[in-house]
Amino acid sequence: MNVNEKLKEYAKTTEEALGKYIPSADCPQKSVIEAARYSLSAGGKRIRPALVMEFCKVCGGKPETALPAACAIEMTHTFSLIHDDLPCMDDDDLRRGKPSCHKAFGEATALLAGDALAIMPFEVIAKAGLDKTISAEAALRISQLLAELSGFEGMIGGQTLDLEYENKKPSVSEILEMYRMKTGALLEFCCRAGCIAAGADENKQNAAGKFGRSIGLAFQITDDILDITSDEKTLGKPIGSDSENGKYTYVSAVGIDKARERVKQLTAEAKELLSEFSDTEFLNELADMLAERSN
Ligand code: IPE
Ligand code: IPE
Ligand code: MG
Ligand code: MG
Ligand code: MG
Repeated sequence: MNVNEKLKEYAKTTEEALGKYIPSADCPQKSVIEAARYSLSAGGKRIRPALVMEFCKVCGGKPETALPAACAIEMTHTFSLIHDDLPCMDDDDLRRGKPSCHKAFGEATALLAGDALAIMPFEVIAKAGLDKTISAEAALRISQLLAELSGFEGMIGGQTLDLEYENKKPSVSEILEMYRMKTGALLEFCCRAGCIAAGADENKQNAAGKFGRSIGLAFQITDDILDITSDEKTLGKPIGSDSENGKYTYVSAVGIDKARERVKQLTAEAKELLSEFSDTEFLNELADMLAERSN
C-alpha cells in the first residue's frame, strides 16, 4: 500500500476516535468544548497517531491497541499548536488552513481549550488501562512518558527555549537541543508508546525512541525550511512567521542547502534504526516522505 493511502487510513481511524472522545455538547461551558473540537478536527497530517499505531504493529501488536495513545498524542500536539499560535507566543492567525483557535474563539477560550487538551490525554490513557485495551502497567508507562516528554524536559521546555532565543543568536547545538525538546520529544513519545502498547522489550523501545528523535529533528528543520520556501495555501499556516518573530532557526544558521542535507542525513540515520523491527516498509517510506514533504 502506498504511504499516503496508509496515512489516510490511520488518520480516518484517529479522527473517528477523537470525535467520540469529544462529543458535541449542549451545556453552559460548550464554548471550550467547541474550541477543542474545532482545532482537533481541523485536519493536520496526523503523523503522530500513525507513528504510534505503526510502531505497535511492527512490534507484533494490533494497531488499534495503540489507538488511545495515538489519540492522546494528537490531543497533546493540538494543545501545543493552539498555545503556540497565541499572541503571547508566535501570534499566528492561521492553522491547518483555518483561523487559529484564538481567532475563532477568542484568546481566553483558546487558552482553556489548550489546557483541556493537555489534560485529557491522561484520562484517555488511564481509561485504556482500566478497560484493558492495554495493560495497567503499559498505561502507567505511557502516562509517565507523555508527562516527561511534553513537560519541562520536553515540548514545554523546548517552547520556553524557543521564546528565550527570540532576537538572539543561539549556537547550532543550542538550536538543535531546542528542536529535540520542542518537536523531537513528542515524536519520540509516539514511537516509544506504540512499542509499549505492544508489550515490546526495552531494546525495541530505545531504537524506536531514537528513530523518533531523529525524524523529529528532521521534521523541525523541514518546518523551518517550509516557513521560507512554501506558501500559505499549501502550508495551511502563515509563512515568514519565524523571521517576523526574530527566530534564529537552523536554516538561519547554516543556510537552506546545508539544512536540506542535514534532513537527509537525519532521515538516513533514523531509517537504520528500523533494522530492529520487521515489516518496516511503511516507516521507511514515511521517513522519506516527511523529509520531502511540501506541507
Ligand atoms: C507542526 O506540526 C508543529 C511542528 C512541530 C513543526 P505538524 O506539521 O505535524 O502539524 P499538523 O498536525 O500537520 O497540523
Ligand atoms: C512549534 O514550532 C513546535 C511546537 C511545539 C508547537 P513552530 O512554531 O515552528 O511550529 P509552527 O510552524 O507554528 O507549526
Ligand atoms: Mg513556535
Ligand atoms: Mg509557530
Ligand atoms: Mg514553524
